[in-house]
Amino acid sequence: MTTSTPTAFHSDNTAGASPAIAAAMLDACQGLEGPYGADQYSQQVEAKLSELFETDTSVFLVPTGTAANCLSLASMTPPWGAVLCHAESHINNDECGAPEFFTHGAKLISVAGDNSKIDPRALAMQAQIKRGDVHSVQASSVSISQATESGSIYSLDEIAAINEVCQAQDLALHMDGARFANALVSLNCSAAEMTWKNGVKALSLGATKNGALGVDAIVLFDKDLAQELAYRRKRSGHLLSKMRLFSAQMNAYLKDDLWLHNARHANAMALRLQTGLQAIDGVEMLGSTESNILFCRLPDSYIQGLLELGFGFYHDRWGKGIIRLVTSFAHTHEQIDSFIAATQALASKQC
Ligand SMILES: Cc1ncc(COP(=O)(O)O)c(C=O)c1O
Repeated sequence: MTTSTPTAFHSDNTAGASPAIAAAMLDACQGLEGPYGADQYSQQVEAKLSELFETDTSVFLVPTGTAANCLSLASMTPPWGAVLCHAESHINNDECGAPEFFTHGAKLISVAGDNSKIDPRALAMQAQIKRGDVHSVQASSVSISQATESGSIYSLDEIAAINEVCQAQDLALHMDGARFANALVSLNCSAAEMTWKNGVKALSLGATKNGALGVDAIVLFDKDLAQELAYRRKRSGHLLSKMRLFSAQMNAYLKDDLWLHNARHANAMALRLQTGLQAIDGVEMLGSTESNILFCRLPDSYIQGLLELGFGFYHDRWGKGIIRLVTSFAHTHEQIDSFIAATQALASKQC
């Protein structure tokens, strides 16, 4: 790609796959292996994730983040239950009712909080509403996104505060980690601290947005959920017969810290974009990026100009003139700089 080619910023899945991951998948195409996860690659994934999280985990690979979220939540929430989540969460807005479908009708109830993060006080209040009332769904689980859909990140203290409510109210804690690596490198803590040490029972560990071709993992820290999850995965059509091709991707993703390297790069690209854009007249940054997503408000003429130049991004979904830019492991410095330069040129035309 040349430096002048316009770039897509719709999401981090505008990127393809890291070469090492694509190569590992091709390698795994050779030879014969047991089906449905009875293969050497899948065993390696289990071992690697237990090592990485410093505890014995149960791992279920699935092809999408939606499947990872919904199968996890279904194993923690009865049909008469409720999943407490933020209004801006992916499960609430972008999964086409799949959480309700997979849980056989449990209700998603949104809980307030700034920066797309659940406020623990609001959570505690919501958890107690109509407790024990047979006419109402019963709060059963909580789902937090790390990083969140707006690019913010829960600190370890904030996760601990959510967990405290979960413990007090007997709620199971799920983490949507579609951008887990982006949050981890930003917090600079261990994967264990960001999850089970702070009460997370099930994690949707994303890899697709950060270098894999297509694989996410359900990582269970509560192994009592494992048997049910195994049946649920099969029953929903998410048990892949050629699992080794998925496991090979996950192995390569974790090998030599590729996942952390990719996430650091994606986050650095977002910061570079923010630094460049915030200096331009007419650009209003909305918050500051903590991971690889940023939002800003632009005059309509800038948005139209950038689109005409071929840049891709979502706009006007979050309010008039608001655009979302998402960077990935594959965005280059040149691509970031060309977006900034194009925005600057449009701003100069206004003067
Ligand atoms: C926060 C979050 N969770 C989960 C997903 C699941 O993605 P998919 O089902 O498209 O793999 C996404 C994708 O955009 C996301 O942003």
